[in-house]
Amino acid sequence: MTHIAVVYYSATGHIYEMAEAVVKGAKDAGAEVRLRRVAELAPEEVIRRQDAWREHHERTVPLVLEVMLDDLEWADGFAFGTPTRFGLPAAQLKEFIDQTGPLWVKGHLANKVATSFTSSQNPHGGQESTLLALNNVFYHWGCVIVPPGYTHPVVAAAGGNPYGASSAAGDVVSAEALTAAHYQGHRLAQYAARLVAGDGEPARRRDGTSPDPVALDPYDPPDYSPLAWQARSASP
Ligand SMILES: Cc1cc2nc3c(=O)[nH]c(=O)nc-3n(C[C@H](O)[C@H](O)[C@H](O)COP(=O)(O)O)c2cc1C
Repeated sequence: MTHIAVVYYSATGHIYEMAEAVVKGAKDAGAEVRLRRVAELAPEEVIRRQDAWREHHERTVPLVLEVMLDDLEWADGFAFGTPTRFGLPAAQLKEFIDQTGPLWVKGHLANKVATSFTSSQNPHGGQESTLLALNNVFYHWGCVIVPPGYTHPVVAAAGGNPYGASSAAGDVVSAEALTAAHYQGHRLAQYAARLVAGDGEPARRRDGTSPDPVALDPYDPPDYSPLAWQARSASP
């Protein structure tokens, strides 16, 4: 089975929500997925002073395992998520990236698929520059970058960012941004499956048939509308 690691930093929950959608998309494409958060670097007293930050921190630290280098070694593909911070990735994520030298030097990050997603306060607040900066890391690692491009109408519906799913943060992440994140995870996992299958041959579908070598499987977005979301949260 294809392995995907979704690695993220989130202070107030927007990126966490998008990361969960990326996870679901990759799982829906048949991958085994690890959702992992990077360590928080801000001092406890700073986090405690801001309600949204403190609440998210307290909720997710017991819920989501902290990422380890082994998660990257295990994965055939990565999706990295970060809030936009002055047009750049968050320092917390960068700090983890800076610990990957021992894997990089052995070539253990190379030849894997990678993609990135972000969230900012403003639609033009630096989403693209954040994603492009993060993707620089993937070039250094020797990854195959799998951007969403304009390969499905859900990308345009979410604001049309071909570099990666992006949310302009209101109180909640929009259904369109979650759908674009789900699509990105789905697409990443399918390309990872093809690399794992080797020889440039696409992985066989579970029913034994072989997909077209270039086109991916058809994609049907899930329903992230608020009503469907509430119904899902209410079900056990
Ligand atoms: C230090 C700092 C820098 C930020 N820089 C930007 C920025 O350059 N552009 C922008 O639109 N929003 C900026 N924001 C807002 C965050 O990107 C936004 O709140 C993000 O969606 C939060 O994601 P999270 O809830 O996962 O932490 C910044 C926030 C902080 C705390």
